[in-house]
Amino acid sequence: MTLKTGRGAEAPPFIVMDVIAAANARAAALPPSAPGILRMEVGQPGSGAPAGAVAAAVEALQSGHPLGYTEAFGLLPLRERIARHYREHYGVTVPPARIAVTVGASGAFPLAFLAAFDRGDRVAMAAPFYPPYANILTALGMEPVLLECGPETRFQPSIAMLEALDPRPDGLVVASPCNPAGTMLTPEELAATARWCHARGVRLVSDEIYHGLSWGTVAESTAAAVSDSAIVVNSFSKYWCMTGWRIGWLLLPEDLVRPVERLAQNMFISAPHVAQVAAEAAMDCVAELEAKKAAYARSRARLLEGLPKAGLDRIAAADGAFYLWCDVSHLTNDSVQFTARMLDGAGIAATPGVDFDRTRGGRFLRFSYCGAEAAMTEAPERLKAWLGR
Ligand SMILES: Cc1ncc(COP(=O)(O)O)c(C=O)c1O
Repeated sequence: MTLKTGRGAEAPPFIVMDVIAAANARAAALPPSAPGILRMEVGQPGSGAPAGAVAAAVEALQSGHPLGYTEAFGLLPLRERIARHYREHYGVTVPPARIAVTVGASGAFPLAFLAAFDRGDRVAMAAPFYPPYANILTALGMEPVLLECGPETRFQPSIAMLEALDPRPDGLVVASPCNPAGTMLTPEELAATARWCHARGVRLVSDEIYHGLSWGTVAESTAAAVSDSAIVVNSFSKYWCMTGWRIGWLLLPEDLVRPVERLAQNMFISAPHVAQVAAEAAMDCVAELEAKKAAYARSRARLLEGLPKAGLDRIAAADGAFYLWCDVSHLTNDSVQFTARMLDGAGIAATPGVDFDRTRGGRFLRFSYCGAEAAMTEAPERLKAWLGR
């Protein structure tokens, strides 16, 4: 007898994971003398957590402390440290009571979506977009509404696009800097979007996971500074280089604090205790993290100079994060096949755009430049040779 499977089981794969597997297999099959694979598919910093975070974790592990569950919203010292970050970085005062420590930003999304929306609710977002936004919403019975964005709006949603939606959505997810395009909303645009949402009862979810990684073209601003009703999502995975530690946070509006707390108690109990200790320490590792950031900046500059010479000259404004979103429509309309050929022919792993944009993704690639700096210097040369430039 065939048993029923739930709607959540229909979530599409995150194709980048398949690219990672293909790149691993190709790297393993290469003879030791062959040039290695340049890894530009993965959206995680090439280096691990900062030394101060690791030291704090080791100390906690050796202390004999049981490291059991924490409160559902996390350890108070970490929440206070995050509140201090808002004061120092953005000049915004937020009470630790509105901060919920989560299992990465990924753990924050279902909490936020379940607290803010009902089954059937429509939640808008730019396309291209980070696939789990839409896949989690769909798994929860909510409906992602995709706004096709292009270079004219830096691949970000505009008020005009929101105004044109009929019926009006129940929510809006924005990310600035965003993944995959690496583009940002200006502080004025974010403020106007937040005001538009608040005035119309549209719940804004602002994914700020790439804050700390912007390159001076657009100023960073947080939705928390301009909206009392927005939900802010952030994480230690990117700027703080702690992907595997699985610590993120939500900055919640008053009306969602207790609902999210109840959901978090039931769904996760708490984020990992030792990782919370490490995350708090990471916030003081400024010099080490700024050195990593400077390396990304150098890689970005090399690619922005070298890729156009290799024929990849249609690159989205690279305001932040560590991605370049390249329009390769002059080379292919099948980015999955193109990235497979590029892996074989040039030894470069990148992510096909179809992961991020269901209709136009065949014509785009995402290059990630948070890996080894030497790889980012070599990539344009390899591409030039492979594309016969
Ligand atoms: C835009 C965006 N949001 C959220 C996440 C999830 O991050 P975390 O590791 O904190 O779960 C990612 C990871 O790549 C991302 O790119």
